[in-house]
Amino acid sequence: MTTLITNIQQLIGTREEHTLLRGAALANLPSIENAFVLIEDGIIAEYGAMYELELKVPQLPKAIIDAAGQLVLPCWCDSHTHIVFAKSREEEFIDKIKGMSYADIAAKGGGILNSANKLNEISEEALFLHAWKRLEEVSQLGTGAIEIKSGYGLTVEGELKMLRVIKKLKAQSDLSIKATFLGAHTYPQAYKEDHQGYIDLIINEMLPVIAKEKLADYIDVFCETGFFSPHEMETICKAGMSYGLKPKLHVNQLNSIGGIEAAIKLNAISVDHLETMTETDITLLRQGGSPQMGELPRSSGQGEPLLRSDPPGLIGTLLPTAAFFLRMNYQPARILIDNNCAIALASDYNPGSSPSGNMNFVVALSCIQMKMLPEEAINAATINGAYAMELQHEVGSISIGKKANLIFTKPIPSLAYLPYAFGNNLIDKVMIKGQFL
Ligand code: NIG
Ligand code: FE
Repeated sequence: MTTLITNIQQLIGTREEHTLLRGAALANLPSIENAFVLIEDGIIAEYGAMYELELKVPQLPKAIIDAAGQLVLPCWCDSHTHIVFAKSREEEFIDKIKGMSYADIAAKGGGILNSANKLNEISEEALFLHAWKRLEEVSQLGTGAIEIKSGYGLTVEGELKMLRVIKKLKAQSDLSIKATFLGAHTYPQAYKEDHQGYIDLIINEMLPVIAKEKLADYIDVFCETGFFSPHEMETICKAGMSYGLKPKLHVNQLNSIGGIEAAIKLNAISVDHLETMTETDITLLRQGGSPQMGELPRSSGQGEPLLRSDPPGLIGTLLPTAAFFLRMNYQPARILIDNNCAIALASDYNPGSSPSGNMNFVVALSCIQMKMLPEEAINAATINGAYAMELQHEVGSISIGKKANLIFTKPIPSLAYLPYAFGNNLIDKVMIKGQFL
Protein backbone atom coordinates (compact mmCIF):
# COMPACT_ATOMS: atom_id res chain seq x y z
CA MET A 1 0.00 0.00 0.00
CA THR A 2 1.47 3.36 -1.09
CA THR A 3 0.21 6.73 0.12
CA LEU A 4 1.38 10.19 -0.84
CA ILE A 5 0.80 13.17 1.45
CA THR A 6 1.07 16.47 -0.39
CA ASN A 7 1.08 20.22 0.27
CA ILE A 8 2.20 19.89 3.89
CA GLN A 9 2.62 23.46 5.16
CA GLN A 10 5.68 22.41 7.18
CA LEU A 11 7.21 18.96 7.53
CA ILE A 12 9.09 18.94 10.82
CA GLY A 13 11.98 16.80 12.09
CA THR A 14 13.39 15.74 8.74
CA ARG A 15 16.81 14.16 9.18
CA GLU A 16 18.97 11.56 7.52
CA GLU A 17 21.84 11.85 9.98
CA HIS A 18 21.25 10.27 13.33
CA THR A 19 22.88 11.47 16.50
CA LEU A 20 21.66 11.93 20.01
CA LEU A 21 21.16 15.68 20.31
CA ARG A 22 22.89 17.58 23.10
CA GLY A 23 23.75 21.19 23.91
CA ALA A 24 23.23 23.70 21.12
CA ALA A 25 22.35 20.90 18.67
CA LEU A 26 19.11 20.25 20.57
CA ALA A 27 17.66 23.46 19.11
CA ASN A 28 18.28 22.27 15.57
CA LEU A 29 14.96 20.97 14.23
CA PRO A 30 15.23 20.67 10.45
CA SER A 31 12.03 21.14 8.48
CA ILE A 32 10.78 21.55 4.93
CA GLU A 33 8.10 24.03 3.89
CA ASN A 34 5.44 23.04 1.37
CA ALA A 35 6.45 19.40 1.51
CA PHE A 36 5.38 15.87 0.62
CA VAL A 37 5.87 12.45 2.24
CA LEU A 38 5.60 9.13 0.42
CA ILE A 39 4.68 6.11 2.53
CA GLU A 40 5.09 2.50 1.43
CA ASP A 41 3.74 -0.28 3.64
CA GLY A 42 3.79 1.90 6.72
CA ILE A 43 7.35 3.10 6.18
CA ILE A 44 8.56 6.53 5.02
CA ALA A 45 9.88 5.88 1.50
CA GLU A 46 10.59 9.44 0.36
CA TYR A 47 9.99 13.05 1.36
CA GLY A 48 10.94 16.48 0.16
CA ALA A 49 9.70 19.85 -1.04
CA MET A 50 6.70 19.90 -3.39
CA TYR A 51 8.90 21.28 -6.20
CA GLU A 52 10.94 18.05 -6.00
CA LEU A 53 7.89 15.78 -6.20
CA GLU A 54 8.04 15.05 -9.92
CA LEU A 55 11.70 14.19 -9.70
CA LYS A 56 11.54 12.13 -6.51
CA VAL A 57 8.19 10.41 -7.17
CA PRO A 58 7.85 10.02 -10.95
CA GLN A 59 4.85 7.66 -10.64
CA LEU A 60 2.16 9.05 -8.36
CA PRO A 61 0.22 6.48 -6.30
CA LYS A 62 -3.58 6.32 -6.28
CA ALA A 63 -3.88 7.26 -2.62
CA ILE A 64 -3.07 10.96 -2.25
CA ILE A 65 -3.87 12.97 0.89
CA ASP A 66 -3.85 16.75 0.72
CA ALA A 67 -2.41 18.19 3.95
CA ALA A 68 -2.67 21.85 2.95
CA GLY A 69 -2.45 24.17 5.95
CA GLN A 70 -1.22 21.42 8.25
CA LEU A 71 2.07 20.89 10.06
CA VAL A 72 3.27 17.29 10.11
CA LEU A 73 5.70 16.07 12.74
CA PRO A 74 6.97 12.73 14.01
CA CYS A 75 4.86 11.13 16.75
CA TRP A 76 5.99 11.57 20.33
CA CYS A 77 8.40 9.00 21.76
CA ASP A 78 7.41 8.68 25.42
CA SER A 79 10.35 6.90 27.01
CA HIS A 80 9.12 6.65 30.63
CA THR A 81 5.61 5.52 31.68
CA HIS A 82 3.82 3.29 34.15
CA ILE A 83 0.54 2.84 32.22
CA VAL A 84 -0.21 -0.65 33.55
CA PHE A 85 -2.11 0.00 36.77
CA ALA A 86 -5.37 -1.22 38.23
CA LYS A 87 -6.93 1.95 39.59
CA SER A 88 -6.52 5.71 39.70
CA ARG A 89 -5.70 7.43 43.04
CA GLU A 90 -7.67 10.68 43.04
CA GLU A 91 -8.59 10.23 46.72
CA GLU A 92 -4.88 10.78 47.58
CA PHE A 93 -4.91 13.84 45.34
CA ILE A 94 -7.71 15.29 47.49
CA ASP A 95 -5.86 14.31 50.70
CA LYS A 96 -2.82 16.23 49.45
CA ILE A 97 -4.91 19.29 48.59
CA LYS A 98 -6.20 19.18 52.16
CA GLY A 99 -2.63 19.22 53.48
CA MET A 100 -1.61 15.62 54.02
CA SER A 101 2.04 14.87 53.33
CA TYR A 102 3.39 12.04 51.22
CA ALA A 103 4.50 10.34 54.47
CA ASP A 104 0.99 10.65 55.99
CA ILE A 105 -0.49 9.13 52.85
CA ALA A 106 2.05 6.31 52.85
CA ALA A 107 1.27 5.63 56.54
CA LYS A 108 -2.41 5.22 55.55
CA GLY A 109 -1.34 2.52 53.07
CA GLY A 110 -1.38 4.95 50.16
CA GLY A 111 1.09 5.60 47.36
CA ILE A 112 2.82 2.82 45.45
CA LEU A 113 1.66 0.22 48.01
CA ASN A 114 -1.96 1.27 47.43
CA SER A 115 -1.50 0.64 43.69
CA ALA A 116 0.23 -2.67 44.44
CA ASN A 117 -2.69 -3.89 46.57
CA LYS A 118 -5.16 -3.03 43.82
CA LEU A 119 -2.99 -4.63 41.16
CA ASN A 120 -2.63 -7.90 43.01
CA GLU A 121 -6.45 -8.15 43.29
CA ILE A 122 -7.26 -7.64 39.60
CA SER A 123 -7.13 -10.28 36.84
CA GLU A 124 -4.55 -10.14 34.06
CA GLU A 125 -7.35 -9.73 31.51
CA ALA A 126 -8.87 -6.73 33.29
CA LEU A 127 -5.42 -5.18 33.76
CA PHE A 128 -4.74 -5.60 30.05
CA LEU A 129 -8.01 -3.87 29.12
CA HIS A 130 -7.27 -0.87 31.36
CA ALA A 131 -3.75 -0.55 29.93
CA TRP A 132 -5.02 -0.98 26.36
CA LYS A 133 -7.44 1.94 26.88
CA ARG A 134 -4.59 4.14 28.11
CA LEU A 135 -2.46 3.14 25.13
CA GLU A 136 -5.30 4.12 22.79
CA GLU A 137 -5.76 7.39 24.65
CA VAL A 138 -2.08 8.40 24.40
CA SER A 139 -1.83 7.37 20.76
CA GLN A 140 -4.75 9.72 19.95
CA LEU A 141 -2.65 12.41 21.64
CA GLY A 142 0.23 11.70 19.26
CA THR A 143 2.36 9.11 21.05
CA GLY A 144 3.75 6.54 18.62
CA ALA A 145 6.39 4.82 20.75
CA ILE A 146 6.31 4.17 24.47
CA GLU A 147 8.24 2.55 27.29
CA ILE A 148 6.12 0.84 29.95
CA LYS A 149 7.29 -0.27 33.39
CA SER A 150 6.17 -2.86 35.87
CA GLY A 151 6.54 -1.95 39.57
CA TYR A 152 2.99 -2.05 40.96
CA GLY A 153 3.12 -5.80 41.59
CA LEU A 154 5.90 -6.09 44.19
CA THR A 155 5.15 -9.83 44.40
CA VAL A 156 6.40 -12.49 42.01
CA GLU A 157 2.90 -13.04 40.60
CA GLY A 158 2.09 -9.32 40.45
CA GLU A 159 5.28 -8.30 38.65
CA LEU A 160 4.98 -11.16 36.17
CA LYS A 161 1.31 -10.30 35.59
CA MET A 162 2.25 -6.70 34.73
CA LEU A 163 5.06 -7.76 32.41
CA ARG A 164 2.84 -10.31 30.65
CA VAL A 165 0.31 -7.54 30.08
CA ILE A 166 3.06 -5.38 28.52
CA LYS A 167 4.12 -8.32 26.32
CA LYS A 168 0.52 -8.65 25.12
CA LEU A 169 0.33 -4.90 24.46
CA LYS A 170 3.50 -5.23 22.36
CA ALA A 171 1.98 -8.07 20.37
CA GLN A 172 -1.38 -6.40 19.74
CA SER A 173 -0.51 -2.74 19.30
CA ASP A 174 0.98 -0.96 16.29
CA LEU A 175 2.90 1.33 18.61
CA SER A 176 6.58 0.62 19.25
CA ILE A 177 6.75 -0.58 22.85
CA LYS A 178 9.62 -1.31 25.25
CA ALA A 179 9.15 -3.11 28.58
CA THR A 180 10.99 -2.31 31.79
CA PHE A 181 11.10 -4.44 34.93
CA LEU A 182 10.73 -2.19 38.01
CA GLY A 183 10.33 -4.78 40.75
CA ALA A 184 12.49 -2.45 42.86
CA HIS A 185 9.90 0.35 42.96
CA THR A 186 9.48 0.22 46.76
CA TYR A 187 9.90 -2.37 49.48
CA PRO A 188 6.57 -4.19 49.98
CA GLN A 189 5.13 -4.17 53.51
CA ALA A 190 6.25 -7.73 54.24
CA TYR A 191 9.88 -6.84 53.47
CA LYS A 192 10.06 -3.37 55.07
CA GLU A 193 12.56 -4.68 57.62
CA ASP A 194 14.12 -7.29 55.35
CA HIS A 195 15.58 -5.51 52.33
CA GLN A 196 17.89 -8.39 51.47
CA GLY A 197 14.89 -10.76 51.47
CA TYR A 198 13.12 -8.67 48.80
CA ILE A 199 16.31 -8.20 46.76
CA ASP A 200 16.73 -12.01 46.85
CA LEU A 201 13.14 -12.41 45.68
CA ILE A 202 13.83 -10.09 42.72
CA ILE A 203 17.07 -11.84 41.84
CA ASN A 204 16.11 -15.46 42.46
CA GLU A 205 12.36 -15.60 41.77
CA MET A 206 11.49 -12.78 39.40
CA LEU A 207 14.46 -12.27 37.07
CA PRO A 208 14.87 -15.91 35.94
CA VAL A 209 11.21 -16.09 34.83
CA ILE A 210 11.38 -12.65 33.20
CA ALA A 211 14.44 -13.80 31.24
CA LYS A 212 12.93 -17.16 30.31
CA GLU A 213 9.68 -15.64 29.04
CA LYS A 214 11.49 -12.62 27.49
CA LEU A 215 9.28 -10.23 29.41
CA ALA A 216 11.54 -7.17 29.65
CA ASP A 217 14.06 -5.10 27.73
CA TYR A 218 15.24 -2.94 30.64
CA ILE A 219 15.65 -2.95 34.40
CA ASP A 220 14.75 0.00 36.60
CA VAL A 221 15.18 0.81 40.31
CA PHE A 222 13.69 3.70 42.31
CA CYS A 223 16.92 4.99 43.87
CA GLU A 224 15.82 7.36 46.60
CA THR A 225 16.08 7.95 50.35
CA GLY A 226 13.62 5.56 51.99
CA PHE A 227 13.46 3.37 48.88
CA PHE A 228 16.54 1.76 47.26
CA SER A 229 20.11 2.92 47.95
CA PRO A 230 22.65 3.29 45.11
CA HIS A 231 24.35 0.14 46.41
CA GLU A 232 21.07 -1.83 46.37
CA MET A 233 20.40 -0.46 42.89
CA GLU A 234 23.78 -1.71 41.70
CA THR A 235 23.18 -5.19 43.08
CA ILE A 236 19.75 -5.45 41.44
CA CYS A 237 20.89 -3.98 38.12
CA LYS A 238 23.92 -6.26 37.89
CA ALA A 239 21.63 -9.26 38.34
CA GLY A 240 19.31 -7.91 35.62
CA MET A 241 22.26 -7.18 33.34
CA SER A 242 23.42 -10.80 33.64
CA TYR A 243 20.15 -11.63 31.81
CA GLY A 244 20.69 -8.91 29.20
CA LEU A 245 18.45 -6.23 30.73
CA LYS A 246 19.94 -2.74 30.44
CA PRO A 247 19.39 -0.20 33.22
CA LYS A 248 17.04 2.79 32.86
CA LEU A 249 16.78 4.31 36.30
CA HIS A 250 14.66 6.51 38.59
CA VAL A 251 17.16 8.83 40.29
CA ASN A 252 17.38 12.31 41.87
CA GLN A 253 13.63 12.91 42.18
CA LEU A 254 13.65 13.92 45.84
CA ASN A 255 17.30 13.64 46.91
CA SER A 256 20.76 13.45 45.40
CA ILE A 257 22.24 10.28 46.92
CA GLY A 258 24.73 9.07 44.32
CA GLY A 259 22.28 7.56 41.82
CA ILE A 260 23.84 9.19 38.77
CA GLU A 261 27.34 8.04 39.69
CA ALA A 262 26.03 4.49 40.13
CA ALA A 263 24.10 4.72 36.84
CA ILE A 264 27.28 5.67 34.98
CA LYS A 265 29.12 2.71 36.48
CA LEU A 266 26.26 0.50 35.31
CA ASN A 267 26.44 1.97 31.82
CA ALA A 268 22.74 2.88 32.06
CA ILE A 269 20.74 4.00 29.04
CA SER A 270 19.05 6.80 30.96
CA VAL A 271 18.64 8.47 34.34
CA ASP A 272 15.10 9.68 34.81
CA HIS A 273 13.36 12.41 36.91
CA LEU A 274 16.30 14.71 37.90
CA GLU A 275 14.28 17.27 39.86
CA THR A 276 17.12 17.44 42.42
CA MET A 277 20.49 18.00 40.75
CA THR A 278 23.72 19.16 42.41
CA GLU A 279 26.61 20.64 40.47
CA THR A 280 28.43 17.32 40.75
CA ASP A 281 25.38 15.50 39.33
CA ILE A 282 25.31 17.87 36.35
CA THR A 283 29.03 17.34 35.70
CA LEU A 284 28.59 13.58 35.98
CA LEU A 285 25.63 13.56 33.61
CA ARG A 286 27.56 15.59 31.08
CA GLN A 287 30.62 13.36 31.33
CA GLY A 288 28.62 10.14 31.54
CA GLY A 289 26.74 11.26 28.50
CA SER A 290 29.87 11.82 26.52
CA PRO A 291 30.36 9.12 23.91
CA GLN A 292 34.14 9.31 24.33
CA MET A 293 35.69 6.98 26.83
CA GLY A 294 38.53 7.85 29.11
CA GLU A 295 37.51 11.40 29.90
CA LEU A 296 35.77 10.53 33.08
CA PRO A 297 36.68 11.13 36.68
CA ARG A 298 37.16 8.15 38.92
CA SER A 299 34.45 7.28 41.35
CA SER A 300 35.07 8.51 44.86
CA GLY A 301 36.93 6.22 47.17
CA GLN A 302 36.89 2.94 45.32
CA GLY A 303 39.41 3.90 42.62
CA GLU A 304 37.08 2.15 40.19
CA PRO A 305 36.79 3.87 36.80
CA LEU A 306 33.37 5.20 35.87
CA LEU A 307 32.91 3.16 32.76
CA ARG A 308 31.04 4.70 29.89
CA SER A 309 31.33 2.83 26.70
CA ASP A 310 29.51 2.95 23.40
CA PRO A 311 27.88 5.99 21.95
CA PRO A 312 25.36 7.56 22.22
CA GLY A 313 25.89 8.08 25.97
CA LEU A 314 23.78 8.53 29.08
CA ILE A 315 20.48 10.37 28.62
CA GLY A 316 18.82 12.47 31.30
CA THR A 317 15.07 11.99 30.97
CA LEU A 318 13.07 14.89 32.39
CA LEU A 319 9.53 14.33 33.64
CA PRO A 320 8.11 17.83 34.12
CA THR A 321 4.47 16.76 34.60
CA ALA A 322 5.52 14.80 37.72
CA ALA A 323 7.12 17.96 39.14
CA PHE A 324 4.00 19.92 38.16
CA PHE A 325 1.58 17.46 39.77
CA LEU A 326 3.64 17.08 42.97
CA ARG A 327 4.22 20.85 43.20
CA MET A 328 7.99 20.36 43.12
CA ASN A 329 10.76 22.38 41.50
CA TYR A 330 11.10 21.61 37.82
CA GLN A 331 14.13 19.85 36.40
CA PRO A 332 16.93 22.30 35.51
CA ALA A 333 16.55 21.79 31.78
CA ARG A 334 18.27 25.01 30.74
CA ILE A 335 21.35 24.30 32.87
CA LEU A 336 21.54 20.73 31.58
CA ILE A 337 21.30 21.82 27.95
CA ASP A 338 23.81 24.62 28.45
CA ASN A 339 26.16 22.06 30.06
CA ASN A 340 25.96 19.84 26.98
CA CYS A 341 23.97 17.05 28.67
CA ALA A 342 21.71 14.92 26.46
CA ILE A 343 18.10 15.17 27.59
CA ALA A 344 14.80 13.57 26.65
CA LEU A 345 11.26 14.45 27.77
CA ALA A 346 8.71 11.87 28.90
CA SER A 347 5.31 11.80 30.61
CA ASP A 348 5.88 9.41 33.57
CA TYR A 349 2.15 8.55 33.14
CA ASN A 350 1.24 6.86 36.45
CA PRO A 351 -1.55 7.09 39.04
CA GLY A 352 0.55 8.74 41.77
CA SER A 353 2.69 11.52 40.35
CA SER A 354 1.57 12.13 36.77
CA PRO A 355 -1.93 10.88 35.96
CA SER A 356 -1.63 12.08 32.37
CA GLY A 357 0.26 10.77 29.37
CA ASN A 358 -0.33 13.86 27.27
CA MET A 359 3.03 14.57 25.64
CA ASN A 360 1.64 17.79 24.12
CA PHE A 361 1.32 19.12 27.66
CA VAL A 362 4.79 17.78 28.57
CA VAL A 363 6.23 19.76 25.65
CA ALA A 364 4.26 22.91 26.55
CA LEU A 365 5.25 22.70 30.22
CA SER A 366 8.91 22.29 29.25
CA CYS A 367 8.78 25.51 27.28
CA ILE A 368 6.66 27.45 29.78
CA GLN A 369 8.28 26.36 33.04
CA MET A 370 11.74 25.08 32.08
CA LYS A 371 12.46 27.65 29.36
CA MET A 372 13.15 25.11 26.66
CA LEU A 373 12.75 26.44 23.13
CA PRO A 374 9.92 24.78 21.18
CA GLU A 375 12.50 23.15 18.87
CA GLU A 376 14.46 21.79 21.87
CA ALA A 377 11.32 20.41 23.48
CA ILE A 378 10.14 18.72 20.28
CA ASN A 379 13.55 17.14 19.69
CA ALA A 380 13.70 15.96 23.31
CA ALA A 381 10.22 14.43 22.99
CA THR A 382 10.87 12.75 19.64
CA ILE A 383 14.38 11.79 18.49
CA ASN A 384 16.04 11.91 21.92
CA GLY A 385 13.09 9.99 23.40
CA ALA A 386 13.64 7.39 20.67
CA TYR A 387 17.29 7.12 21.73
CA ALA A 388 16.18 6.66 25.34
CA MET A 389 14.32 3.51 24.17
CA GLU A 390 17.01 2.47 21.66
CA LEU A 391 14.41 2.96 18.93
CA GLN A 392 16.30 5.69 17.08
CA HIS A 393 16.48 3.59 13.93
CA GLU A 394 12.71 3.15 13.65
CA VAL A 395 10.99 6.24 15.09
CA GLY A 396 11.55 9.82 16.28
CA SER A 397 12.12 11.69 13.01
CA ILE A 398 10.97 11.99 9.42
CA SER A 399 13.60 9.77 7.82
CA ILE A 400 13.58 7.30 4.96
CA GLY A 401 13.09 3.80 6.33
CA LYS A 402 11.49 4.86 9.61
CA LYS A 403 7.89 4.11 10.56
CA ALA A 404 5.32 6.56 9.21
CA ASN A 405 4.20 7.64 12.69
CA LEU A 406 2.97 11.15 12.07
CA ILE A 407 1.07 13.92 13.86
CA PHE A 408 -1.07 16.14 11.58
CA THR A 409 -1.88 19.43 13.30
CA LYS A 410 -4.97 21.54 12.90
CA PRO A 411 -4.27 24.76 10.98
CA ILE A 412 -1.88 26.71 13.24
CA PRO A 413 0.27 29.76 12.44
CA SER A 414 3.64 28.24 13.38
CA LEU A 415 5.44 25.47 15.23
CA ALA A 416 5.82 27.64 18.35
CA TYR A 417 2.02 27.85 18.55
CA LEU A 418 1.96 24.19 19.71
CA PRO A 419 3.50 24.79 23.18
CA TYR A 420 2.25 28.39 23.31
CA ALA A 421 -1.44 27.50 23.08
CA PHE A 422 -1.06 24.89 25.83
CA GLY A 423 -4.04 22.77 26.76
CA ASN A 424 -5.77 23.20 23.42
CA ASN A 425 -6.13 20.11 21.29
CA LEU A 426 -4.18 21.11 18.21
CA ILE A 427 -3.95 17.61 16.71
CA ASP A 428 -6.17 16.93 13.72
CA LYS A 429 -5.13 13.31 13.06
CA VAL A 430 -2.50 10.80 14.09
CA MET A 431 -1.01 8.22 11.73
CA ILE A 432 0.70 5.06 13.05
CA LYS A 433 2.64 2.89 10.58
CA GLY A 434 0.95 4.66 7.68
CA GLN A 435 -2.62 4.23 8.97
CA PHE A 436 -4.76 6.98 10.46
CA LEU A 437 -6.12 6.09 13.90
O1 NIG B 1 8.03 7.86 38.60
N1 NIG B 1 8.79 7.89 41.76
C1 NIG B 1 8.50 6.72 41.62
N2 NIG B 1 7.57 6.21 40.84
C2 NIG B 1 6.56 6.97 40.17
C3 NIG B 1 5.41 7.31 41.05
C4 NIG B 1 4.81 6.13 41.65
C5 NIG B 1 3.49 6.31 42.31
O2 NIG B 1 3.30 7.24 43.14
O3 NIG B 1 2.61 5.50 42.02
C6 NIG B 1 7.20 8.13 39.46
O4 NIG B 1 6.94 9.30 39.72
FE1 FE C 1 8.40 6.99 36.90
